[in-house]
Amino acid sequence: MSYLELKNVKKSFGAINALQGVDFQIGAGEAVGLMGDNGAGKSTLVKIIAGNVQPTSGQIFVDGQDTVFASPLDARKLGIEIVYQDLALCDNLTAAANVFLGRELQAGFGQFHKLSHAAMNRRAAELFGELKSETRPHDLVERMSGGQRQAVALARTRLSDPKLVLLDEPTAAISVRQVAEVLARIAQLRDTGHAVILVSHRMGDVFEVCDRVAVLRRGHKIADKPIGDTSPEEVTGLITGALEEA
Ligand SMILES: Nc1ncnc2c1ncn2[C@@H]1O[C@H](COP(=O)(O)OP(=O)(O)OP(=O)(O)O)[C@@H](O)[C@H]1O
Ligand SMILES: [Mg+2]
Repeated sequence: MSYLELKNVKKSFGAINALQGVDFQIGAGEAVGLMGDNGAGKSTLVKIIAGNVQPTSGQIFVDGQDTVFASPLDARKLGIEIVYQDLALCDNLTAAANVFLGRELQAGFGQFHKLSHAAMNRRAAELFGELKSETRPHDLVERMSGGQRQAVALARTRLSDPKLVLLDEPTAAISVRQVAEVLARIAQLRDTGHAVILVSHRMGDVFEVCDRVAVLRRGHKIADKPIGDTSPEEVTGLITGALEEA
């Protein structure tokens, strides 16, 4: 059984039909590339899966259960973590504070508990090290580059043991070395039984780490096939509209 299944999901923003009836499923140990031109509906789809946007209609099943996410917290409780395209970090906080936002470590108990900044800084330093990022826990996010912000957002997904990780264009604005780390992280997640959805415009990234590729065009899913059954040329044709569907 699929971990996640979407049935006939539609989303309108006023007169704009961002998603026009999308079916999609993903199981444990699968990495799926989600591709499509600008405005095709990719971010809208992953935001719906993350509970950040409510679909206009359609159903979401998690482990076979018909589910409604009222907020991102509902999705996170079921093991769904997202790294947003626009990253959604708090600029005025440090890197470590952003990593632990909403799930701060506490020391002590009862009325004596306090946030354990030392422990959070230590753990954040470990996570940045694993991601080969130069980011330091005390760095303020407002002074960070795009790549450093990416490391902070990625570190957040390593805190818990998520069932499904959604990455919206994680490699769009980072260095070659960091791209390799992100792709290695995706492969590692998949190989340890997690499900990963990678939204990307980078054909090479998708063909390197994904088992399957789904293509959206103007809110419709026009292809969904194993990587081995398609080619970069075919997917490019699907994205641009040179090919109707496959
Ligand atoms: N909050 C919103 N309000 C109004 N329209 C929106 C909103 N979010 C998305 N849209 C519209 O929905 C459509 C799909 O947008 P979406 O962000 O999902 O595209 P995308 O495939 O992620 O594109 P990109 O590759 O540029 O990131 C677009 O026409 C966009 O303008
Ligand atoms: Mg997008």
